[in-house]
Amino acid sequence: MTGLLENKIAIVTGAASGIGAASARRFAAEGAAVVAADVRGAKAQEVAQSIVDDGGHAIGVEANVAEAEQVAAMIDSTVHELGGIDVLFNNAGTLRPGTVVDLAVEDWDLVMGVNVRSVFLGAKYAVPVMVERGGGSIINTASISGLHGDGGSVVYAASKGAVINLTRALSTDHAPNGVRVNAICPGTIETPPVLRMMENPEVLKTNLDAHALRRLGKPDEIAAAAVWLASDESSFVTGEALVVDGGLRAQSPLGTLADPRPAHLR
Ligand SMILES: NC(=O)c1ccc[n+]([C@@H]2O[C@H](COP(=O)([O-])OP(=O)(O)OC[C@H]3O[C@@H](n4cnc5c(N)ncnc54)[C@H](O)[C@@H]3O)[C@@H](O)[C@H]2O)c1
Repeated sequence: MTGLLENKIAIVTGAASGIGAASARRFAAEGAAVVAADVRGAKAQEVAQSIVDDGGHAIGVEANVAEAEQVAAMIDSTVHELGGIDVLFNNAGTLRPGTVVDLAVEDWDLVMGVNVRSVFLGAKYAVPVMVERGGGSIINTASISGLHGDGGSVVYAASKGAVINLTRALSTDHAPNGVRVNAICPGTIETPPVLRMMENPEVLKTNLDAHALRRLGKPDEIAAAAVWLASDESSFVTGEALVVDGGLRAQSPLGTLADPRPAHLR
């Protein structure tokens, strides 16, 4: 690693698993002091401990990102224990399938809370700390589901669309203070909940075909994008929704019906 995040203090939410765990590890490997936060506190501690065992700097924190008091406490303890915040990766998220007809009202509120309210709360309490330090980088995990209508998961699609536009609004408000705000829109990434879905061979085939690279992404491939957005290498990038999707959006669904390559390239 190249020390891209040397001397930075970073919070990663949803750090107990998947993209968040990979990002916490990668941020630490790039030199950041990391707060690995998750509603599953013991698992977050395990990730933090594995970073420390590898020679990095990390602490685990239990926090439900949909709850204002817990997010405020997460920000306060980071400032108290590590001295400030340079990077906030609002990554925790959840999904409940359903059309508007069959989705329970409670599930709408749950998903909007974990996916959108969390971004509002994280930014609300982190921005003043960043402004005091002269700037910072906020990264929000959206999804390609926030860029197009994702049938069968209406609240997930609505929540990720909201994350993208909240990202733009936040970036506009706080750019004068040096706070950059960007989103990442992953395609299908091999994290525990996704791997469970891919046990169905039909679902797996549909997903492989949907990506031009004909494979799913790795959590580390999203972590690499997050490192870039967290680092000063992306200093002129703000308000962006960075798509990291193995070519999913680039191809028309019709393009998956036939392999367009000449025989010698297959
Ligand atoms: N895996 C994919 O294909 C994919 C694609 C697009 C977007 N995403 C998004 O990436 C993010 C990470 O997902 P993942 O695939 O790594 O899933 P994951 O289940 O491996 O990790 C999500 C983590 O978030 C935590 N979490 C859930 N609710 C929380 C809460 N209220 N407070 C704090 N932590 C909470 C979970 O405990 C878990 O550790 C999510 O925002 C998800 O919507 C994932």
